[in-house]
Amino acid sequence: MVFFGTFMNSIELIAPDDWHIHLRDDAALRVTVPHAARQFARAIVMPNLKPPVTTAAQARAYAERILAHVPAGVDFQPLMTLYLTDKTSAQDIQDAVNDGWVKAVKLYPAGATTNSDAGVTDLARCAVALEKMQDLGLPLLVHGEVTDAQIDIFDREAVFIERVLKPLRAQYPRLKIVMEHITTAQAAEYVAQADAYTAATITAHHLLYNRNAMLVGGVRPHYYCLPILKRESHRQALLKAAISDSGKFFLGTDSAPHAQDTKETACGCAGCYTASHALELYATAFASVNALDKLEAFASINGAKFYGLSVNTHTVRLNASPQTLPSAFDYLDGAQLVPLNAGETLAWTFQEALDR
Ligand code: DOR
Ligand code: ZN
Repeated sequence: MVFFGTFMNSIELIAPDDWHIHLRDDAALRVTVPHAARQFARAIVMPNLKPPVTTAAQARAYAERILAHVPAGVDFQPLMTLYLTDKTSAQDIQDAVNDGWVKAVKLYPAGATTNSDAGVTDLARCAVALEKMQDLGLPLLVHGEVTDAQIDIFDREAVFIERVLKPLRAQYPRLKIVMEHITTAQAAEYVAQADAYTAATITAHHLLYNRNAMLVGGVRPHYYCLPILKRESHRQALLKAAISDSGKFFLGTDSAPHAQDTKETACGCAGCYTASHALELYATAFASVNALDKLEAFASINGAKFYGLSVNTHTVRLNASPQTLPSAFDYLDGAQLVPLNAGETLAWTFQEALDR
């Protein structure tokens, strides 16, 4: 990592990867893929399409649709995931590993979030798949929230750790598990003390905002995501984890596009769109605790190591120069896509990749 200028007016880092992103499909890819490919060399692509990506053949076809939207001259690699269901077989897992495109399997508890209806109803039904993943070293990516209607939405992640994650870990001691988009001190603590088979991704929005951003002075739907923003003490715990030297925490934007009319409505969808300015948001978060020197490990090294992949060989630069974000991007059928921080001025600006 290189810092330029007495007042640190620029930083250069190994090209980062996004270990958790939603690109959607078809026409949406025209917008989402160029945004992701501009900042990230690789991205773990979530499989919660309609219908979900449940086989290696579907994952490969989806990867090809994504690659068709990568701008000319840009080298961007989608790393595909399978959507775990009660019916995923050991053969499905073997096929995924043989195929080479699939790098992980995603667990959505049924009903937990967007397009999770086909998710897992009972992890006991997934035993053969999980055993095969453990044997083959294929990571399980976990949406860590219980769906029990009795549990308060702000407690769902902490309860998941006790009810689901700890028993899962006890049953599969060598299964690689990534707790995705962690939002609580309990999750940060659990992952920090866990062994080397456990890691976590953290979004930029959970590092920058607490639930006040969503609720004070009016309901702000573009800050609504799942797991939901928590109170300030949790944000502080996430920041501490992100800048720690443990190597277990890495970048995953959870950038999740929804058309404007489906966010700004009486029952709005969950998801923050950050792919267009993700690195600037992470830089803002790390700079807020004087830890820009920790950004490269978090964004460009820890994730690759956990997945057993090499780190990228080119670099990117962020300049400490302000930029004002657009109020929206053209999205689907005339609908608009409103990014998080729409119309706001950020302190950092991403410079195109240097030596791709
Ligand atoms: O906020 C979210 N949006 N959380 C998720 O888990 C899913 C995502 C989506 O796909 O929109
Ligand atoms: Zn997600």
